[in-house]
Amino acid sequence: MQARPLQDRVAVVTGAARGIGYAIARRLVDEGARVIIMDVDAEGAARAAAELGGDTGAITADISREADVDRAFAQVVSDAGHLDILVNNAGIVGTDTPVRDLQVADWDQVLNINLKGTFLCSRAAVRHMIPRKSGVIVSMASISGKEGNANMAPYSVSKAGVICFTKSLAKELLEHGIRVNCVAPALIDSPLLAGMEAERVAFLTSRIPMGRLGQPDEVAATVLFLVSDESTFTTGACFDVSGGRATY
Ligand SMILES: NC(=O)c1ccc[n+]([C@@H]2O[C@H](COP(=O)([O-])OP(=O)(O)OC[C@H]3O[C@@H](n4cnc5c(N)ncnc54)[C@H](O)[C@@H]3O)[C@@H](O)[C@H]2O)c1
Repeated sequence: MQARPLQDRVAVVTGAARGIGYAIARRLVDEGARVIIMDVDAEGAARAAAELGGDTGAITADISREADVDRAFAQVVSDAGHLDILVNNAGIVGTDTPVRDLQVADWDQVLNINLKGTFLCSRAAVRHMIPRKSGVIVSMASISGKEGNANMAPYSVSKAGVICFTKSLAKELLEHGIRVNCVAPALIDSPLLAGMEAERVAFLTSRIPMGRLGQPDEVAATVLFLVSDESTFTTGACFDVSGGRATY
């Protein structure tokens, strides 16, 4: 890879106040990008932007709300002039509940953030990218979107949706010079794990053939490849970062 391969590129990373998104934002900044952290956690986003330094920006938005998303992307483009990269990373895991006990509100919350949020942010981004005939989108799916984890139906379904949305959008955007891919991690060592039952974390870790949790930096490295010019013949694909768990 060339030195500073993302020099002068403008990137939005959603959910980058902490966890995997923060690691992605840090890596993109290291590689030369101007990154805007878009997160519902205003304080966390501002703190993360200050830590990352340079001209890293922070903008508050709930990605499940259409008006929030459209306002935030309009502001990014107005401030930065254009948008080259979108990383749809923000997501929640939801409750650890079997379907028989699942509340509609729980189902809606997870689908609204993980899947509708990915759609809303992608739509807002491509409206700015299409006229420039250039851009790259990477969305965070999950291995659970391929396998379907017990007691995590909304989460698994939302991530399966992200994989399929990636394929649909990639095909639509071929003629516009915009690439769209997604990443499917297994369990990654992030603050999201604190919201999961300890037994579930232990079980999901035991399913990883490498026998350990992944690290946020390992996900960030794959995202960097996908947003860079090292992957210009790659679109509509799902990349596993799963320690060998993925079988297809
Ligand atoms: N940690 C894992 O094991 C794992 C595995 C596979 C996929 N993922 C996916 O990776 C992504 C990041 O996960 P993480 O582990 O870093 O999670 P995390 O909980 O540590 O961080 C999530 C971030 O998203 C933000 N966020 C949540 N809801 C939002 C909303 N409505 N609008 C805007 N921002 C919002 C949070 O404020 C937070 O900063 C998620 O999409 C998650 O599903 C995580």
